Amino acid sequence: MPPKSATTPKPLVAGNWKMNGSRASLQEITLMGLGYDADLRRNVDLLVCPPTPLLYPAATAALGTAIAIGAQDSHEKISGAHTGDVSPNLVLDTGATMVILGHSERRTDHGEKDSLIEQKAGSAIATGLVAIVCVGETRAEREAGRALAVVRRQLRGSIPRTATAAQLVIAYEPVWAIGTGLTPTANDVAEVHLAIRTDLKKLLGKQQGEMVRILYGGSVKPNNAKELLSIDNVNGALVGGASLKAADFMAIAETYR
Ligand code: 13P
Repeated sequence: MPPKSATTPKPLVAGNWKMNGSRASLQEITLMGLGYDADLRRNVDLLVCPPTPLLYPAATAALGTAIAIGAQDSHEKISGAHTGDVSPNLVLDTGATMVILGHSERRTDHGEKDSLIEQKAGSAIATGLVAIVCVGETRAEREAGRALAVVRRQLRGSIPRTATAAQLVIAYEPVWAIGTGLTPTANDVAEVHLAIRTDLKKLLGKQQGEMVRILYGGSVKPNNAKELLSIDNVNGALVGGASLKAADFMAIAETYR
C-alpha cells in the first residue's frame, strides 16, 4: 500500500513499549532495522518509543537504520527542580526526535488534563521534538454516544495552535481498544479521523491541518493492520503490545510496502 498521493501525509508506524522492555530488548530495534529497506523507507516512517532509561541506548541501536526513537512523556518545563521528571531538552539530547504526550494511561494514572498536555506539547515542540498528542474516548463515553464530542474536546484543549504539520502528530486511541483485542469498526474509525482532520484544518489552518498525521492506536496487530491502515485519514498506527517484537512490528509496517 504505497502512499496515497503527494498531498497526503507520509504514514508513520510508531511503537509504544510502555513500561516494558529492558536492555536486551534493544536487539529488536536492530532486527527492525534489518527489515526496514529502501522501499519501505520510501513509503513509511518508523518510530520506537522505549521507556526513558532506554532512550539513549535505543537511539544508539537505531543509528544507521532510519528508525526514529521517541519518549513516552516529557515535562511541560524545559528544565528545573522537578524530581523524577524528564525535560524535553534531555529527551532531545538522547537522540530521540519525538515524544508521545497525553496517552490515556498518563491521563488516567497521572491525572493529566488537556491544558497540561498542551503545555507539554508546546515545550516539546519549542525544544525541537515532534509531539504525538493522544486522544480517545472511554467505553462509557462511546456507549453514551459521546465519542466524537470527547475526542474533539481533547483535541481542541491539547494542541498548541501554532504547531505545524511537521511538529505534530495526533493519535486516536479509543481507551477501550487498548490492550483488549477489541477495535472499532472501520466506519467508526473513519468517522473519528474525519472529525479530527476537519478540526485540525480549523485549528491550524487548511494547509497544515491537511498534512498532520493522524494515527490509529488500540489493538493494532499484523492480522488487522491492513484493514485499519487503509481507512481514510488514517496515516499510520500507534502500536503497543505488537511493537515489542520486531517480527510483529515489521509485519504491521509491511502493510505500506
Ligand atoms: P495495544 O496495541 O497494546 O492495544 O496498545 C495501544 C497503545 O496504547 C499504544 O499507545
